[in-house]
Amino acid sequence: MDGFKIVTRKRGKKKQFATTVNCKETYFVSGDNHIASTVKRKALSAKETLCCTDFYTEMKGKVEECTKKVNGPDKSLGEIVTYGLGNFAECLISRYQLALLLALREDLQIPPSDVLLYDPKFFMAEKEVLSDFGFHVLSENEEGKRQCGSSTLFYMPHCGKSLYNNLLFANWSPDRLHHVIIIGNSFTNMVQNVPSSTMKKCAPLIMKIQPYAEEILLPGNFQYEDVFNDTVIHLFPQGKLNLLDTEFWEHCPEPKYDQEDLEFIPKS
Ligand SMILES: C[S@@+](CC[C@H](N)C(=O)[O-])C[C@H]1O[C@@H](n2cnc3c(N)ncnc32)[C@H](O)[C@@H]1O
Repeated sequence: MDGFKIVTRKRGKKKQFATTVNCKETYFVSGDNHIASTVKRKALSAKETLCCTDFYTEMKGKVEECTKKVNGPDKSLGEIVTYGLGNFAECLISRYQLALLLALREDLQIPPSDVLLYDPKFFMAEKEVLSDFGFHVLSENEEGKRQCGSSTLFYMPHCGKSLYNNLLFANWSPDRLHHVIIIGNSFTNMVQNVPSSTMKKCAPLIMKIQPYAEEILLPGNFQYEDVFNDTVIHLFPQGKLNLLDTEFWEHCPEPKYDQEDLEFIPKS
């Protein structure tokens, strides 16, 4: 028994992974090699499972294609920045999302130290595991506002709209934005499904850029539908961005959100 109880689909209800954990507080404990090694073993096992799937073969091809579009055929990605992965020690969704990160990093040949992660809810044991993989666990809450100098893959599975909005704000120019690749919730679905009054308040830059972004659908054949649902690869093709006049990019003050529109944990 690993302490997980997976709630299976009830008739007519969306499949979900509600998990209960025997002793969640143990994940907060630092320096316990046994806990960290159990969490690490499970992450590696999820990666092994994922790598054997048609989903992953197809997904890897799509990401490689996207990096070529952004970088040209000969250069590789600069960094992978991951926000909002969640608690992969206890949550199967987060664990398979981590599995994808582990696999892509290896196949894209990104040095582990160029993989940066932040989630304010990471447990100590999770940070230890990520550091053990050689990744860089950020200590500062950037609120998603990382500016990228070279091509960067932002991996933000199921993050809040305003966190994506902050990322767009930090890179709001054609020169920066065309270096940005985002694996995250579909901007098109947000614009279509969220009332425009809400979008204006919590994600105005998503509304503005969505018509000029390209969305590449993920393969729809992963066995657990809640892991990569509503997730796409976003590109911002330079050809389209260059057509926009300077007015489009100007007057972009730092976003301020009302408490109820704050879909991320702010800096304290
Ligand atoms: C809806 S959950 C998604 C978790 C997981 N990726 C999933 O698909 O179930 C959003 C995640 O964003 C994280 N988050 C909130 N504020 C953040 C911030 N300022 N920077 C990075 N991540 C943040 C939360 O802690 C949470 O884990």
